[in-house]
Amino acid sequence: MNVRQVSHLYSLLRPSNIQEIYSPLLSSHQVRLFVKRDDAIHSVISGNKWRKIKHLLHHVEQSGFSKVASMGGRYSNFLHALSYVCKHLNWHCDCYVRGYPQQSFTPMLQDIKGWGARLIFCDKQEFRNIRQQAPNLPKDVFWIPEGGFSELAVKGVKETFYELPLDKNAGFDYLVSAAATGTTLAGYLKGIEQLKRNVRIVGVRVLNNDDEIEEKVRQLTKKSINSTEFDLVRGYEFGGFAKRDERLEQFITSFESIHAIPIEPVYSGKSFFATFDLIQQGYFKPGSRILLVHCGGLQGKRT
Ligand SMILES: Cc1ncc(COP(=O)(O)O)c(C=O)c1O
Repeated sequence: MNVRQVSHLYSLLRPSNIQEIYSPLLSSHQVRLFVKRDDAIHSVISGNKWRKIKHLLHHVEQSGFSKVASMGGRYSNFLHALSYVCKHLNWHCDCYVRGYPQQSFTPMLQDIKGWGARLIFCDKQEFRNIRQQAPNLPKDVFWIPEGGFSELAVKGVKETFYELPLDKNAGFDYLVSAAATGTTLAGYLKGIEQLKRNVRIVGVRVLNNDDEIEEKVRQLTKKSINSTEFDLVRGYEFGGFAKRDERLEQFITSFESIHAIPIEPVYSGKSFFATFDLIQQGYFKPGSRILLVHCGGLQGKRT
């Protein structure tokens, strides 16, 4: 298969559904909440992943490469999705992973290895170094930055806006999403800019990386983003990346049993928790319609 064929196969599953959530909390605060089910795009390349990698892969192919390398943590959804697509494209994929080979393999690493990608483990310092500067790679290997951080990924995420209703009355006042590298937020901001939508973007920070997100969004959108252009909500990190507590776990169990939408503790659990908490605090204007994007990552539910 080539990238166009893979793209065609997966785009059959888009646009993803928009599902309304009903709860007494929402009616008492006079807001309506909708979930964009990007998690249902595909079982592996779900959420923001296909949006992020689609244009990157086209670019790699058009540039004549069939070998890629990228980096991520032991639970990386990005490396997981990338290595899966590479298997279908019959491309070579090198994954630089923060960790040690003697640590137990996460389900993601097992999958990645099973799909034929090569795992290259790096310690903390080496990982930091390749974040600053890509490793020395053979000339025929294309480097993809961590989490797909690039303008091409932004372009793919921006296309989410093409899937939203045009009708003024069916539009949204807020779009809420989990935020880690900021690439996804940058894509939404570009969508608003291009389609001239009056939607307030709310990013829920899922790891303690102070100031990094704003800086990265600025880099990707090539403009001086200031706090008037989007809200970055802090206080829902639950201790940091992939950390959780009982409150979060209870929320996830209760949300899943009431609404029958699966969420996980690393990204969607935190952004969904934050949305409900912000509604409770009266953060969203009465009468507003909120779109909460389910960015996927459900494969990370496995331990
Ligand atoms: C499931 C999921 N949701 C949200 C995000 C946050 O995306 P970004 O790093 O673009 O901020 C990620 C990371 O890519 C993710 O895997």
